[in-house]
Amino acid sequence: MLDAGESITEEVMAAMASTPDPRTLEVLRCAVRHLHDFVREVDLTEAEWATAVDFLTRTGQMCSPQRQEFILLSDVLGVTMLVDAVNNRRVGEATGNSVLGPFFREDRPIVPDGHDISAGLPGVPLVVHARITDTAGLPVPGAHLDVWHSDAEGHYDSDIAGLDDTAMRGQFRASDDGRVTFRSIAPASYPIPSDGPVGELMRACRRSVMRPAHVHVRISAPGFSTLTTMVFRSGDPYLDGDPVFGVKPPLVAEFPFDHEDQSEHLHYTFVLQRLD
Ligand SMILES: [Fe+2]
Repeated sequence: MLDAGESITEEVMAAMASTPDPRTLEVLRCAVRHLHDFVREVDLTEAEWATAVDFLTRTGQMCSPQRQEFILLSDVLGVTMLVDAVNNRRVGEATGNSVLGPFFREDRPIVPDGHDISAGLPGVPLVVHARITDTAGLPVPGAHLDVWHSDAEGHYDSDIAGLDDTAMRGQFRASDDGRVTFRSIAPASYPIPSDGPVGELMRACRRSVMRPAHVHVRISAPGFSTLTTMVFRSGDPYLDGDPVFGVKPPLVAEFPFDHEDQSEHLHYTFVLQRLD
């Protein structure tokens, strides 16, 4: 005989049985089953249920065209990286994905190789030497590399008055030997937005909101799986506690300083996986 809680689960399953789309039915049934099991497992109180409803309500109210609090919530709960892991299995030497993040912008103009994307902002000069290969180590000529990163204070251009999404980002096309070189300034670590419900959650868990310094890239080429990832600065104090779980050891690299040209240099090989 079912207890009261389990009979409710069965009733909800039965109520959804007429859902015509089989995938919708599968996802809904699984979600309800896990949600009901969760309520039973923690013996959720009515006050806790009300707190959860209030939290989710405020998360939605925090969203705007410039702010996506639900994606941030997904990020800090590790769901974003988990969905990526389930959907983008990389084999062998292929470079792993990381989170896209909220600062990516579509359709930036393509700029020539060697271009300086810093827009004259202050900071330690950085030269990025990217190599794009397949898993056999052969270059991927013509690959499309999109890059974006923060300034020396951890701000993206969209947060800097007057810049309007035009600095520290650019699109490049790889040379015949699969290389892209560009100049910019070194990025800094920065906090995820913490003035909303997600910030409350992070404080309740005594978690750091600081992301380690990184350069975002998105690389696409015909016949290859698009690579959305980031390269983190080795030695950054926040590498071990990335609030969005984006750090993977192979994505951490040295940014050595060259005294001759007074610049940091990042050399990184991005390995694309073929679509099969
Ligand atoms: Fe970022």
